[in-house]
Amino acid sequence: MYAMQKRKLFLICFLLLSPFGAMVRANPVDIGRELINLQTADLSMILMVGKDSLLYFQHFGRKIGDASPFLDKQTYRRVDYGTDPHAYYASGGTGYREPALRVTHSDGDLNTELAYLGHQQKILAAGNVTETTIALQDKKQHLLVELVIRAYMRENVFTQRVVIKNMQKGSVILHNFYSSYLPLRAKRYYLTSFHGAWAQEMFMEESPLNHGIKTIENKMGVRTTHTENPSFLLSLDTPLNEHAGDVIGGALAWSGNYKLNFQIDEFDILSITAGMNPYASEYRLAPGEAFHTPEMIYTYSTSGAGGVSRNLHDWARRYNVYDAETIRPTLLNSWEGAYFTFNEKTLTDMMDEAADMGLEMFVLDDGWFGNKYPRNSSNQGLGDWQVARDKLPRGISYLADYAVNKGLQFGIWIEPEMVNPKSELAENHPEWIVQAKGRPVPTTRGQWLLDMTNPQVQEFVFGVFDDVMQQSENISYIKWDANRHVESVGSAFLPADRQSHFWIEYIRGLYNVYERIRAKYPQVLIQACSSGGGRVDYGALKYHQEVWTSDNTDARSRIFIQYGTNMIYPALVTGSHVSAVPNHQTGNITPLKFRFDMAMSGRFGMELQPKDLSGEEKIFARKAIENYKGIRDIVMKGDLYRIISPYEGKGLYAIMYVSKDKKRAVVFDYCFEYQGRTRNSQLLRLHGLDPQKRYKLSELNVDKSSFWGNNKLFPGEYLMYEGINPRLQKIYDSAIFLLEEVEKSIEETK
Ligand code: DGJ
Repeated sequence: MYAMQKRKLFLICFLLLSPFGAMVRANPVDIGRELINLQTADLSMILMVGKDSLLYFQHFGRKIGDASPFLDKQTYRRVDYGTDPHAYYASGGTGYREPALRVTHSDGDLNTELAYLGHQQKILAAGNVTETTIALQDKKQHLLVELVIRAYMRENVFTQRVVIKNMQKGSVILHNFYSSYLPLRAKRYYLTSFHGAWAQEMFMEESPLNHGIKTIENKMGVRTTHTENPSFLLSLDTPLNEHAGDVIGGALAWSGNYKLNFQIDEFDILSITAGMNPYASEYRLAPGEAFHTPEMIYTYSTSGAGGVSRNLHDWARRYNVYDAETIRPTLLNSWEGAYFTFNEKTLTDMMDEAADMGLEMFVLDDGWFGNKYPRNSSNQGLGDWQVARDKLPRGISYLADYAVNKGLQFGIWIEPEMVNPKSELAENHPEWIVQAKGRPVPTTRGQWLLDMTNPQVQEFVFGVFDDVMQQSENISYIKWDANRHVESVGSAFLPADRQSHFWIEYIRGLYNVYERIRAKYPQVLIQACSSGGGRVDYGALKYHQEVWTSDNTDARSRIFIQYGTNMIYPALVTGSHVSAVPNHQTGNITPLKFRFDMAMSGRFGMELQPKDLSGEEKIFARKAIENYKGIRDIVMKGDLYRIISPYEGKGLYAIMYVSKDKKRAVVFDYCFEYQGRTRNSQLLRLHGLDPQKRYKLSELNVDKSSFWGNNKLFPGEYLMYEGINPRLQKIYDSAIFLLEEVEKSIEETK
């Protein structure tokens, strides 16, 4: 045992010296039995300082205004067995669960016991956001930890990040450094997580949690959806339901390796530790240095999965997604229409067609650069960001000007973190390539990864972006690709005793570059793409307006991919394109209308060779694009309600978006398996409308609707409590219905 006097002395010295000094009470040792009740409109997160000065987690869920009973509550705490739910579990003392923090102190001590020092609150963002910083310190060692918790009132979201400060004379080693530790109690826990692979992102799986640890993680370094995704839904007591039940939603804002552990102990307490993956990442923290974790985002819904999605979408659009206010343009991307084979004329012809169909942007994808090693396949040229003279003799500015003269915005593709072995960049800078010293460097998709821990590489990557932007003032969109993960890890830049910092410093280096880019180019639209939907996370979305949801543009596959993605991330960010059939992914021959109807439920675009469309198809496309422009504000800014899940096994999928003022809504309905006589199962009970309003229903993307209710007026209460019953029967039948409020006439309201 350490002496009380000694600790008191340390605390007083610490308070005098540290920035925490301002927030801590006058007598720091006289603490205990203090409640910290953090609140949003409907939720509470309650922490308590125990008599032993440790900080305990008491409650996360429905709001408890008067939390005073927690002060006397006994059963939740069994101090002598070490079962207490700490607010931030550290390895050592009596703790035995998976620790959020594990440290080897500078003298070799393996224990950390975090005592409460004090906390302060400040109001951010127009009274809707409160930030509480809770200062903790080890009872013996000079190690400080700040829990920084933000409460978003209207959105019912909490975020937590952690700052770990080494105040010791020597370095400490951080082994675990999670962003949050969340202990929960329920009868049963049902975890829905998202698993993925290239072209199969965000597929959902639900499983009841049993005793032991279930882990969601990524060790690939740069792709957050190609294993699992750092997000989940956790249904309490009953399996996940769309409209009812208590469900926690969580997401980590980090684009690198992550790990989310769900541990149920012998007292049936579930504790969630979530943050950067400690895998092979021991972090040496020098004296005086601070370590910052990314944010973990939590919400709690009492109206099922739907409530979780709507809370997260609202929060993301207001506080996370870059520039969420701007309505995204519709676009034609050159990739699936031209791949690497194009010249100026191919592209200007595509632009003519795009403008003719009413699209608003043209994006030139891969293949526009490289001279010594022209980028005519994925095997060469990557890294050499000079315009290919043979293909594009008049450069990018000619194309960008051409687009603008056609009334289109212009976008362009880059993949600046990567390099082909066959490139001038690889010849000139072998030391910039991620590789383990003395071992062969494997290639994936014929390419290597640049070492973003190296400031020179960061400078280069910033320069690639900057140079491309300088090619024309008419560039308004960058598609930032990253088609490779980390293999055979090693950095020529990091010293031998810092090699394990690679995984973290890579992403920090990337974020540094993003910061610089955003400072210089606040307006440009940037899409995060990483082998399709490889970088879908709230870390990347702080800098990007959107993500490329998947390389799989097959409309049937997109049902599942977008359903899963939009559980956590709003439709505004999910690029969704109409491509040709059969495309490079699947053999599915989906009708053009089905492909349009699917793509229109996200950020709409096209990705095919328009000249391959027939005259009739172009007429349809023109009309559908016009329709999309009429509904996209509802899709991008409205509330999402899911009506039929594709996982129900009926071969049906239906969702709707409702504008915030409930005056307009759009319903998307798809059939992807033959329905036989089971049409009754297609009853779509609508949600989120105003039962007292009257809505006019009109079907979009058809010449003549076969739905009996087309162009009719419906009371909101009918639509919500009875529903509509469109007849989708054949495989790939689909329908989009627009609902618009019709004001009651003055006579009627008298
Ligand atoms: C992978 C992306 O996901 C595709 O959309 C395309 O940009 C290719 N890379 C280009 O190489």
